[in-house]
Amino acid sequence: MTHTATDDLRNLLTDNPELYEARFPDTHRLAGRWTEDCLRRYGAGPRVLDMGCGTGRDAAHLHAVGRKVTGADLSEAMLAHARAHHPGPAYVRADLHGFDLGHGAFDAVVCLDSSLLYCHTNAQLDGFLASCRRALSPGGLLVAEMRNGAYFLGRTDLLDTPTVHEFAWQGSVHRSTTTLTVDRTAQLLRRSRVWTADDGSPPVEQRSAWRLLFPQELRRLLAAHGFEVLDLHDGPGPRTEPPWREGMPPGDATDADRLHVVARLTEPAP
Ligand SMILES: C[S@@+](CC[C@H](N)C(=O)[O-])C[C@H]1O[C@@H](n2cnc3c(N)ncnc32)[C@H](O)[C@@H]1O
Repeated sequence: MTHTATDDLRNLLTDNPELYEARFPDTHRLAGRWTEDCLRRYGAGPRVLDMGCGTGRDAAHLHAVGRKVTGADLSEAMLAHARAHHPGPAYVRADLHGFDLGHGAFDAVVCLDSSLLYCHTNAQLDGFLASCRRALSPGGLLVAEMRNGAYFLGRTDLLDTPTVHEFAWQGSVHRSTTTLTVDRTAQLLRRSRVWTADDGSPPVEQRSAWRLLFPQELRRLLAAHGFEVLDLHDGPGPRTEPPWREGMPPGDATDADRLHVVARLTEPAP
């Protein structure tokens, strides 16, 4: 197969963990620290599964504070980066939509930065929660942090208007033009991102989507899969403004654009 500049650009954009960390820095390990705070508040045991672990930075933080961590992701590129740059946890390939990494093998499952919203359909959400139920020991915790679907009820400030972001990468200037739209039928937030570069390569469009998950819908789903909700709120969290800081208690509103949930498995898998 002929290798082209377009291939380079496509790989750069869809499969480049270094770029992901550069574009979305978390220098103070806020996400990892917030997660550890949730785990401690509710007395979670040491074995943690980070589903949709991405580059592995949160898994490595949890490992560094003494937990026995497995990071799981579908992307081989993310897993390879995690093994090389954030060692400590075990890293395995698994699909959020349905996984089996051992019955009762974990005391907590964490799922950060909207990874859970890659479950687009109801069947995929059921598959994820049934897998978590199987993976957790009795009383185990699910901790997740994501966009809040309810934010888009009556608000259009983030929708339909392209936003442009420019950055230098390997000697060229790259520009992303991102447009978010709501697909009401599929209940998805769809993202189109068009990338251009000043190195003469042609534009590349990347499309992805997140499930628009609503707080009361999440409560219903968790209850149906044997979980009791302990916290459900829009902040403070690692990606809220202002961000969470050590010692801040969880809120109780679910109106702003991030959603945080901590739930306990009260009815283990039969
Ligand atoms: C936005 S990133 C978040 C990464 C990491 N949790 C963080 O907070 O930095 C979403 C991750 O979910 C992974 N992902 C997407 N669909 C998945 C699936 N079906 N199963 C497992 N991982 C998936 C992607 O490969 C990506 O690493």
